[in-house]
Amino acid sequence: MSEELDAEKIRLSLSTRFLGQRIVYHTCIDSTNLAGRRLADQGAVDGTLIAADEQTAGRGRLERAWLAPRGTSLLFSLILRPQLEMRLVQGLTMIAGLAVQEAIRDGYGLPARLKWPNDIMVCGRKAGGILIEVSSTGHCLDYAILGIGLNVNLSPHTLPPEFHATSIQHELGHPVSRLQLLQRILAHLEKRYAALLRGHWPMHEWAAALETLGQRVELRTAGEAIQGLAMRIDEEGALLVHLDSGEMRRVVVGDIAATHEIAP
Ligand code: BTN
Repeated sequence: MSEELDAEKIRLSLSTRFLGQRIVYHTCIDSTNLAGRRLADQGAVDGTLIAADEQTAGRGRLERAWLAPRGTSLLFSLILRPQLEMRLVQGLTMIAGLAVQEAIRDGYGLPARLKWPNDIMVCGRKAGGILIEVSSTGHCLDYAILGIGLNVNLSPHTLPPEFHATSIQHELGHPVSRLQLLQRILAHLEKRYAALLRGHWPMHEWAAALETLGQRVELRTAGEAIQGLAMRIDEEGALLVHLDSGEMRRVVVGDIAATHEIAP
């Protein structure tokens, strides 16, 4: 399925009220997150959606590149200006992961799960990721750029094997409409965002969606590599790991340099 996207098609497909109230579409851009930052700094409205068919400098977490052949993926960022304290930004990660999970599961019947902190997993392989970048003043958030990359109609073998990638098309055996998937994600996200702003903290749902809990993990922080059993998350979304040394370690997203599952 070769499906050309543009701002007008996206606008007509969306069922949201404020996510995507302004849409900026690029056939090719460095990174939708970088474009989002530039627009946010110029005062772009809350809910602005920046989407692209191709990125020349797509960014993943931990300074990694995000690769996606042109036209195969959903690559988009949202400018959000919530009244949130910085310590609650993890809530955006939670609702984004849950919205993508719901859109994939309910829309296509695929068993999507989340891998702490920001990976979208389908059938045990990585189908997407979330990158949230923030601008803040003191403890207050000025804006967040919520970037989502999702392998939709991509052949996993076009990516390096160490990505352990899959795609919606690969798992379903047929391509799907990127437009419809984007519409579904944004519909779920808008509901969850409104609930978050009303004070609903989605920690329990997020914990239930995480495949990481109960698994052995290796986490590289700035200073050391730690191995242990991922036990649970706490209120703020930090991961509590029972280290092989017997110590219980609390790991926050900002501490992580790399995460791996390891064999039991
Ligand atoms: C990760 O798993 O490391 C996060 C990947 C996030 C990729 C998306 S693609 C759209 C947006 N623009 C970027 O440059 N990155 C995010």
